[in-house]
Amino acid sequence: MATGKKVKLESPVLARAVSSGEPSADLFKGFSKLSREERFARLVEMGALNSEDVGFLRGGGLKTPDLAEKFIENVIGYFQLPLGVATNFRVDGRDYVIPLAVEETSIIAAASKTAKWVRESGEITTETVGNLIIGQIQIAKVSDFGSFAEVIASNKTKWIELANKDVAHGLVARGGGVRDIQVRAVPRGDGGQMGVIHVYADPCDAMGANIINQVCEYLKTPVEQATGETVTMCILSNLVDTKLTRARVVIRGIEKDLGRKIEEASLFAQQDPYRAATNNKGVLNGIDPILIATGNDWRAVEAGVHAYAARDGQYSSVTKWKMEGDDLVGIFEAPIVVGTVGGVTKLHPTAQLCLNMMGIDSASHLSRLCAAVGLVQNLGALKALTTVGIIEGHMKLHIKNLTLGAGASEREVPIVQKRLEEILMLTKRISLNNAVEILREIRAGAQAGAAGQP
Ligand code: MEV
Repeated sequence: MATGKKVKLESPVLARAVSSGEPSADLFKGFSKLSREERFARLVEMGALNSEDVGFLRGGGLKTPDLAEKFIENVIGYFQLPLGVATNFRVDGRDYVIPLAVEETSIIAAASKTAKWVRESGEITTETVGNLIIGQIQIAKVSDFGSFAEVIASNKTKWIELANKDVAHGLVARGGGVRDIQVRAVPRGDGGQMGVIHVYADPCDAMGANIINQVCEYLKTPVEQATGETVTMCILSNLVDTKLTRARVVIRGIEKDLGRKIEEASLFAQQDPYRAATNNKGVLNGIDPILIATGNDWRAVEAGVHAYAARDGQYSSVTKWKMEGDDLVGIFEAPIVVGTVGGVTKLHPTAQLCLNMMGIDSASHLSRLCAAVGLVQNLGALKALTTVGIIEGHMKLHIKNLTLGAGASEREVPIVQKRLEEILMLTKRISLNNAVEILREIRAGAQAGAAGQP
């Protein structure tokens, strides 16, 4: 999948102190065992939350529909997702508490546990490569592509200046703006070619969708006038291979057998699209919840990650794990285009709270943390899959859901949970049916007891 533009190397790893406090490793200890109130206290101690944040969260977060009315149409309320925090993350030499808005059991536990392993035995480093987003202008039928391309090339400097003056001036004032225009010939499939103009812009700390769409629509008329062709449509591309995010994890002196198994599991995902899809879903288990918690467009990132995973013509893994001497080294690379200004990110108080919790100072910073958490999440999944299997850890944590799903009362919950744990130990499997059956037995026993039966 050629996109006609090579990525440029931007400043590498960024590891600088930001305004919010950096949690110390000691404060991560025993975090998962704390009550909710104790978690609040610990997060305040870490500097990840302040007392106002705690009041907001304790009060149930956003309540009035006014803000929702600003974002979408036909509002009837909010959909509440659980918001949790992953601990133990040390990325580019800085400690982080990572907010994750997600419904799936065990993602946060796995992320925190694996981050602890990395913290104790290795490191996580990140970087962004390139800073340009892409807008596309399609000309469905181009009779003479050569002369079409010449017209674009001879006008591009003028168009870039015009777009920056008339549309992207706000962005230019912040150090960004339209940077380049390129043209691509895309086969129509009927022997002909379509002309596709790529407009490249630096969106600074915005995700940039609105601005690049506006720029492309603005350029429609000048393009049509100069080329004599008809523009069919203008829209951004989510395959942003001109703005990539990378994360690298090293586990030093990993036990050889485990390292080899993870390497084999990674090869499976690199070579087989069926496995790659599930591998990448696991990576996105770490990324999407941060995007949601910070009010970012997770569908755009998902689309970009999957398209990037298929860039060579076969869908593959966005992560790679290899043994290098005694160390296991993992790499993540894909576009994670996010914003820290504009839209929901700026207006939603929970999104702001989550950005502050991580001390985010730029879109690149947020993107790099997403990559780090995605790669760590992948490591946790591959370790579990190649050793104990996924069921054990996942189901242990899922027991609570099954218990509640079966309709257990507060008094019945611990009894059902204990029985489910025993069944899981014995059979390596549990289901909602088990929980329902246990509950039936408990209730039948209680009734018999009340009726004085033996
Ligand atoms: C489940 O949500 C994610 C995993 O399937 C990821 C993987 O298989 O790598 C465990």
